[in-house]
Amino acid sequence: MCGIIAYVGDKPCAQLLIDGLRKLEYRGYDSAGVAVHDGTQLVVRRAAGKLQSLQDLLIAEPIAGTTGIGHTRWATHGPPSERNAHPHVSGRVAVVHNGIIENHVELKQELEAKGRVFASDTDTEIVAHLVELALGTGASLLEAVRQTLRQLRGAYAIAVLSREDPEKIIVARHASPLVLALADGAVLAASDVPAILAHTREVLFLEDNELAVLSRDGAHIETVDGVKVERAATTIRWSLVQAERGGYKHFMLKEIHEQPRAIEDTLRGRIQLEHARCVADELGVPETTAKAIRRVVLLACGTSFHAAMYGRYLIESIAKIPAVVDLASEFRYRDPVICEGDLVIAVSQSGETADTLAALKEAQRQGANVLGVVNVQGSAIARISNGVLYTHAGPEIGVASTKCFTAQLAAMALVAIHLGRTRGSLSEERASVLIHELVKIPEKMRAALEQDAHIQQIARDLVSSHNALFLGRGVSCPVALEGALKLKEISYVHAEGYAGGEMKHGPLALVDKSLPVVCLLPDDPTLEKMLSNVQEVRARDGQVLAIVNDENTAKSLAKWTIVVPKTEPELSPLITTIPMQLLSYHVADQRGTDVDQPRNLAKTVTVE
Ligand code: M6R
Repeated sequence: MCGIIAYVGDKPCAQLLIDGLRKLEYRGYDSAGVAVHDGTQLVVRRAAGKLQSLQDLLIAEPIAGTTGIGHTRWATHGPPSERNAHPHVSGRVAVVHNGIIENHVELKQELEAKGRVFASDTDTEIVAHLVELALGTGASLLEAVRQTLRQLRGAYAIAVLSREDPEKIIVARHASPLVLALADGAVLAASDVPAILAHTREVLFLEDNELAVLSRDGAHIETVDGVKVERAATTIRWSLVQAERGGYKHFMLKEIHEQPRAIEDTLRGRIQLEHARCVADELGVPETTAKAIRRVVLLACGTSFHAAMYGRYLIESIAKIPAVVDLASEFRYRDPVICEGDLVIAVSQSGETADTLAALKEAQRQGANVLGVVNVQGSAIARISNGVLYTHAGPEIGVASTKCFTAQLAAMALVAIHLGRTRGSLSEERASVLIHELVKIPEKMRAALEQDAHIQQIARDLVSSHNALFLGRGVSCPVALEGALKLKEISYVHAEGYAGGEMKHGPLALVDKSLPVVCLLPDDPTLEKMLSNVQEVRARDGQVLAIVNDENTAKSLAKWTIVVPKTEPELSPLITTIPMQLLSYHVADQRGTDVDQPRNLAKTVTVE
C-alpha cells in the first residue's frame, strides 16, 4: 500500500518528507520519491528500492524548498522501478497517488490521442496529465483538480503540487485514506497517522469525495462539487506503534479487518455488471487462450494451496473445465504430465515461494501456459508467468496470510466466471447473479467482522484446548483446511482440517468431550450432509462450534454458534473464512503467542 506525505510550511521540507515516509515504511513499498517546490520550479527525486536510496540521492543532490510531496510506492500498475516511482510529472504538475484508477486504460487512450506522452506504466500519471491539461485551459489549480477528479473512477488519495502555486498543495480522497494535520506554521497531509505524529496529534480525517487546499494559513476542505466542509480536529492518543497498526493490537488483526477493502480493490475495474462478464484484459487469460483450455492445473503452497483448491471447485462447477490442484512442493517430485491445452495457475501471495516457482518452471518446461495469481507486483512468479492476475490486497505484514487469502478467493471467482462466460458454459443469468453477489461480498464481510467480540468470547472457552478439528464439505472444505492451518500456525494448537465425508474414515476416532469441532454449515447443497457430521460429533460428546447463516441451523447441537451473512453457495468461503481467522487470532492472542511472527515461520519461503 502506497504512502503519501505532503507539507506546506516554513521549514525546509525534503528531509521532513523522508522522515514522514519512514513512519509509513510498515505499509510496505518498493520505491520512493519526493517533489519539492524550490521557489522557482518543481524538483523531483525518485529511487527504486528502500528509502535509504532516496535519502542518499538527496544527500548527493539536495533540494531547498518548504512545499513538497513525498511517496512510497507499492506497485500495482507497472513493475517497481525508478520510472514508475512517484511523484509523476506532467509539465508544471507533480502528483502522488495511493489507490487504483479503474478507468485508466480509457483515460490513457484519450490522453494519447491528444498527444500526451507517458513516461511510466502507472495509472497515476494520468492524473498529472489531466490536471496539466485543465491548467492549460486557464483553470486554477483547485478547479483543475476538481475537473480531473470528476473523470476518475476507482480509489484514490492524491496530492498535487504545481509550479505556479509555490505555497499550495491540493489533496483529495475517494476510498483511500488521507489525514490532514495542522501543526505550528505548517499543514501536512498523509495517508496514515504515523507520518505526522512528530508534528502534531491534532488531525482531521478527509472523507470520500472531499478535497482540501493546504496552505500556510491552514486547510480548506470542500467536496468535489465545491461545497465547503467544516470538520473538527481529532486528537490522536495512540503511540507510534499503535498508530502503525491502525490502533489494532497486531498487524494480523488489522489485516483481517482490511479484507472488505482488499476484495473491493481486487474486483475493481474487473467486472462489467451490465454484461455479466469479467474484463479479460485484467485477468491475464486472453479470450483465445480461454477458449482453447482443456484442463486447468492449479499449483500452490500453504494458504495459497487452499485458495487453489477453491479455484478448482469453481473452475469445474462454474466454467465446466476439468481441473486438478497440486501442492507445488510435490509437483516436481512426481512425474507430472502437462498436456496440450493445459492452463497452469500458480497461486502465491508473495510471488517468490521457491516451491511454487520451481513447479511453475517445470510446467513451463513441458510447454504449459501459466497464469500467475500473485499479490506482489514484479515478483518472480509475476515476471515469468505468461499472464498475471494481481490480487490487490496491499502488503501483508503478519506471517499468517489473511487478506491475501480472501483476495485469492475473489481472484479465483473472477477467473472461473471469465472462463465460463468466454466458453459459453456459464449462462448470462447465472453469471449476473454471481457477479452482483460478488460486489456485495465486502459489505457482507463487514457484517461478519462485527462478530469479533463474540468470537473473542468463544476463544476464551477454547484457549486451553490441545487439539481442534475443522470440518467442511464442497466449497467449504478448503475453508476447513485453512481454518486448521491458521489455528496451528499462530496458536501452536494442533488442528486438523477434514472434508466432512472423511469423518467415518478415521478422524471420528479423535472425538471425545475435550475436542472442539468447528463445523462450516453455510446454507448450501451440502448442509444436510454436514448436519449428519455434526450429529456424529455430538453423539461422541464432541464440542461443536457451528458457523451458520441462520441461528437455528444447528441450535440444539452446537455449543457455540457464529452467524454470518448468507451469499451464493459458491461464494460462501469469502465470508465463512472470517470467523476462522478471528477465532485463530483470539485463541493465539489469549495464549500469548507472537501472533504476527509465529515461531519457526517466515513470511516468504524462498528456500525449499
Ligand atoms: O507467498 P505464498 O502465497 O506463495 O506462500 C505460501 C505459503 O508459504 C503461505 O501461504 C503460508 O502457508 C502462510 N504462512 C499461511 O498463513
